[in-house]
Amino acid sequence: MNFEKYPFEKLNELLADVTPSSEYELSALTIGEPKFETPDFIQQTLKDSTPTLQKYPASAGLPELKESMINFVNTRFGVKLEMNQIIPTFGTREALFNFPQFALFDKENPTIAFTNPFYQIYEGAARASRAEVIHINLTKENNFKAQLSDEELKKCDLVILNYPNNPTSAEMTKEELASWVKKALEFDFILINDECYSEIYFDENDKPSSLLEASIEAGNPEFKNVLVMNSISKRSSAPGLRSGFIAGDAQILKDYMKYRTYVGCASPVPLQITAAAAWNDQEHVEYFREQYRQNFAVAKEILGVDAPQATFYIWLEVEDELEFTKELYKQKHIKVLPGSFLGREGIGKGYVRIALVENAQKTKEVLTRLKDFIDG
Ligand SMILES: Cc1ncc(COP(=O)(O)O)c(C=O)c1O
Repeated sequence: MNFEKYPFEKLNELLADVTPSSEYELSALTIGEPKFETPDFIQQTLKDSTPTLQKYPASAGLPELKESMINFVNTRFGVKLEMNQIIPTFGTREALFNFPQFALFDKENPTIAFTNPFYQIYEGAARASRAEVIHINLTKENNFKAQLSDEELKKCDLVILNYPNNPTSAEMTKEELASWVKKALEFDFILINDECYSEIYFDENDKPSSLLEASIEAGNPEFKNVLVMNSISKRSSAPGLRSGFIAGDAQILKDYMKYRTYVGCASPVPLQITAAAAWNDQEHVEYFREQYRQNFAVAKEILGVDAPQATFYIWLEVEDELEFTKELYKQKHIKVLPGSFLGREGIGKGYVRIALVENAQKTKEVLTRLKDFIDG
């Protein structure tokens, strides 16, 4: 099967012949992995729940895990889900990869559309499904907001949006998301929003909306054709816990649940118990938001860039992203990710992605070095 190299592999190849300055330690602003310690109560719950290793985990997930996720969706978005409207997943990556294969299996000429640039799993899922791909190009000109013509929408069996967006940090309003829901009903395609970054926001009065809220707004309270995925990885600084969910259309989820039984990626019981504790707690998430708020205050001060509505990425415009990445590594021992490694059809050219996942002090040190480099 013809999978693309992962962006980090391309980066290693790009930098293979470049000798970094020995004046500085390596700073990697490449990976979207929070560098904050996973909260103590989460670690302690995991330690306390090891006796349950004796049990096989059920694919459907423990009721208390589902309830904690339902509680999160209700507290955060004011949407009350039923137990048959949500399935816990092993992080979202596995579901993003296998859901399209499940959903497109019966289609003769499957077509999938997703935002471009993108989290690379979407493309892998499209290839594994032998689907034709329509790239929803996100550019400065369209404010990085997803749009397709009716002609293109007619062809779609599945559309994956990703708002708040990795890597552009763009957001769509509830009304904009609601117009996508209407299109999903009109043209009868499955619409997913990958909402992994929904909790990394900065303004309590301007929080990212969920596609579930948008679906209700669009007059589709049963979430027909509508699904969201969310993850604990970024919100709880716990990517190792591998907890996510898919929620929405109960009819689709019923069949997907059957499929998942065969996939066999049920999360171990101690991880499910621990994830339930983490989903139920919103306080630690506020603590992390404050850390990212401070990071963006530093970025504003040093680079003059405004904080986005959500995510921990800066999508920085540069002249030549490959040259910029190589020279920055050579002169300052800093790694960033060229935007063109995250996009296709020329999208992402002229940008680098910078992940602000360290604490404010480290962020200040590395962004000062980066600014020195930019100022030459
Ligand atoms: C847009 C997006 N979706 C999904 C994921 C996967 O996260 P996880 O599998 O940890 O839930 C990531 C991780 O970086 C991401 O950036």
